Amino acid sequence: MNQQWIELAYVAAAVLFIFALKAMSSPRTARRGNLIGALGMLIAIVSTLLSRGVVSWHWIVIGLVLGSAIGAYLATTVKMTGMPQMVAMFNGMGGLASGLVVLVVAFSSWRMASYTAFTVGVSTLIGWVTLTGSLVAFAKLQGFVLSGKPLLFPMQKLANLGLLLGCVGLIALWTCLPTWWWLVIPLLLMACALGIGFTIPIGGGDMPVVISLLNSYSGLAACATGFVLGNSGLIIAGALVGASGIILTRIMCAAMNRSLLNVLFAGVGVVTPAGEDQAERKPVTSWTAQDAAICLENSSRVVIVPGYGMAVAQAQHALRELADVLVESGIDVTYGIHEVAGRMPGHMNVLLAEADVPYEQLLDRQSVNSEFDHTDAVLVIGANDVVNPAARSDKTSPIYGMPILDVDKAGTVMVCKRTLNPGFAGIDNELFYQDNTAMIFGDAKKTVTEIIAALKE
Ligand code: TAP
Repeated sequence: MNQQWIELAYVAAAVLFIFALKAMSSPRTARRGNLIGALGMLIAIVSTLLSRGVVSWHWIVIGLVLGSAIGAYLATTVKMTGMPQMVAMFNGMGGLASGLVVLVVAFSSWRMASYTAFTVGVSTLIGWVTLTGSLVAFAKLQGFVLSGKPLLFPMQKLANLGLLLGCVGLIALWTCLPTWWWLVIPLLLMACALGIGFTIPIGGGDMPVVISLLNSYSGLAACATGFVLGNSGLIIAGALVGASGIILTRIMCAAMNRSLLNVLFAGVGVVTPAGEDQAERKPVTSWTAQDAAICLENSSRVVIVPGYGMAVAQAQHALRELADVLVESGIDVTYGIHEVAGRMPGHMNVLLAEADVPYEQLLDRQSVNSEFDHTDAVLVIGANDVVNPAARSDKTSPIYGMPILDVDKAGTVMVCKRTLNPGFAGIDNELFYQDNTAMIFGDAKKTVTEIIAALKE
């Protein structure tokens, strides 16, 4: 195929990727965005295969069939709660692909130019860091070999800094002495160690932020590989993935009011027993599902606030049924969605979409916060940190400054969770002890089902 047509096809693919990203920024158009992105990728792959004078097709066809079969199997069987692990694996495979391609370049062209040595070095570093970092993230989230807790040891940061400087030094040396192709071997090993060293001190709960960062790295690795191969499609696609991963990482850090450095180096994610002790001492108002049903049917405006506990209990279908019952009785029902509720970006949106909750009922933090002071009842289902008023008022709180859902401003707040235990941040929640708050202790799905039964009676 003529090179000009190939370049044109890459531009078309890049335009489709940009439209896909735009469409994926809203749940309403996300499905379409996914299809547009897939079409762009198809164009890019076909153009590459047509442009490179493929010598032997059978390996490509075997790889294509095998990869598609594994991808289709994983996509159809993965549970929603296993999604972060799956994305971690995808990122790792992206890093591995880039790392392997440039390894072939390093071994096959021993007399490369300084520019090629530099780009191969950068791609090797980012690609292999992404692979091992993603494998550790997968293992932590899956509880496979590694626990989700931060793994800390003395001089850890110094060791990581040493590895990073070592890698940069090797790339610089290789750029100056481009015939020393064998430098790729120590570089690869140090990059692998750096990926592990950088991910093990991070708590399992902070992993979604790290996964989003690794996603960005996998894009940057692909971008660097694009420079090695002179493939503009790969450069554009890699840059888009790199930029969107960084933007998502930033959004997540801002919503937690934490800097990226704090996520990467603070070792947050262990629940402190101190929070539990403090919680046990104070008195709270405890309601049954029947009490909650009476409160709800006497309200004209209700906001449901889901959190991580809804995901654990898989209560989204029951919640949808509850909302339907309330709407049928003429009650206005909406959902308040915090951007970091749950454990992954869009966690609540995805689960509620799975239960066919209409998009119109989902309000983001800014929109719903202006509604709480004229809301009769709020039903908090398995959310904790994202509704903790300490983030607004207690300067000593670790979550001080984190934007929250101001549920405490509503007439009555019903909080459904199993105990008074803290959530991800490991701190007690003032909301539970307020005069207008009632706790409904129990599993979220079971409690919501009981409320529905009580309403129907
Ligand atoms: P959390 O503060 O983690 O609280 C979840 C609550 O759910 C727990 O207190 C737990 O209390 C309850 N729960 C667990 N299983 C339950 C069940 N079966 N039924 C009922 N309740 C159950 O959740 P959140 O409010 O959604 O906040 C998310 C936190 O994760 C934030 O601190 C955020 O910064 C952090 N985080 C989020 C992300 C993303 S991207 N979403 C990424 C990293 C970190 P009991 O044990 O008493 O039931």
